[in-house]
Amino acid sequence: MPALVLLGAQWGDEGKGKATDLLGGSVDYVVRYQGGNNAGHTVVVGDQKYALHLLPSGILSPGCTPVIGNGVVVDPSVLFSELNGLNDRGVDTSKLLISGNAHIITPYNVTVDKVTERFLGKRKIGTTGRGIGPTYADKINRVGIRIQDLYDESILTQKVEAALDGKNQLLTKVFNRRAIEVGQVVEELLGYADRLKPYVADTVLVLNQALEQDKVVLFEGGQGTLLDIDHGTYPFVTSSNPTAGGACTGAGVGPTKISRVIGILKAYTTRVGSGPFPTELFDEDGDALRRIGGERGVTTGRDRRCGWFDAVIARYATRVNGLTDFFLTKLDVLTGWEQIPVCVAYEIDGRRVEELPYSQTDFHHAKPVYEYLPGWSEDITKAKSFSDLPKNAQDYVKALEEMSGAPISAIGVGPGRDETIEINSFL
Ligand code: IMP
Repeated sequence: MPALVLLGAQWGDEGKGKATDLLGGSVDYVVRYQGGNNAGHTVVVGDQKYALHLLPSGILSPGCTPVIGNGVVVDPSVLFSELNGLNDRGVDTSKLLISGNAHIITPYNVTVDKVTERFLGKRKIGTTGRGIGPTYADKINRVGIRIQDLYDESILTQKVEAALDGKNQLLTKVFNRRAIEVGQVVEELLGYADRLKPYVADTVLVLNQALEQDKVVLFEGGQGTLLDIDHGTYPFVTSSNPTAGGACTGAGVGPTKISRVIGILKAYTTRVGSGPFPTELFDEDGDALRRIGGERGVTTGRDRRCGWFDAVIARYATRVNGLTDFFLTKLDVLTGWEQIPVCVAYEIDGRRVEELPYSQTDFHHAKPVYEYLPGWSEDITKAKSFSDLPKNAQDYVKALEEMSGAPISAIGVGPGRDETIEINSFL
């Protein structure tokens, strides 16, 4: 009954796509359990590069059933354009399953996301503008539209009416925008119903039955631990739970079924959008990490903020997710530095602090305390085993492992599918 959770241990964009795809061949189901098309996975297969936002990356592995769980928010127009793009390149997408309980990102949710950010001005979150937060807000306010609502026009109309009642007041009276018409929205949503139908399923039942039959199920988190609505750097977070517990609620699988929780950890740190980031660099080292690491958002095209590895964050990720393993990515990007700073603690108002402070004020004041590890200059992209790595790279990995509190079971040494060193098998 191997049920693995794979999630970002930092602020997202750690290279989950590569890790998921590496496991894809031996995995029967790959499940997304939260988020929507705010995520961005780049998966390299042979000489082909795929950028996925909403679809689970297992869609590229022929034997694997990709599943969009109940905890995901789905923009049908994005779903179809992603499916069309893959079909045009010869990828079979017919096995996809989508929970009837997943919520739909409606056009008005996208509008509200954009106008709210504009309204916040310099206090903005820096969202991806895809309507993610407003869709989850509707879900929690119990005025959301679910995929299953597309199959009952009368219910759909009532629900869209309920959702737009308050929003139109807000749009016209606060944001100075035109009201959105119920009929137009209903018509647009109904237009998706037929094409979606073959994919809609009781995914909770399917996944639990699969686990009873000893199938391998991989739960793939979008975003990352510090973007979690409960455990992240609130309010500069996404509106769902990428942390491990989210896999249970977002897919309908009990915590006793989860066998392994793997944190994807970049060998340095990046984040997009606003919010605190203690090891952020504003100098040529930051520019170099951005350039060498190709640190530009897959979804928004924004440059990512870059900084050194932060062990305080890694320890926190181990704790809140109950991590059993790490997959360390992009180690090759650090090749060429004489010394590599690693943040081992924070200094907050003159005190040394070893663990992530629970107070946001403290976290905003946190200054990194660095240890300097010796770098390496040899090309490591051809390394196939841990012993192929230069001694200093081995020591860097061992030091990170010790500081972070869980074994590093795989290391990414290049963007390609096979440029990975496996130390312990995940299965
Ligand atoms: P939202 O998810 O669009 O509401 O954006 C909220 C915050 O999460 C912003 O800082 C985004 O830049 C960030 N974010 C959302 N999705 C991702 C992702 O996949 N990787 C990294 N950051 C993300």
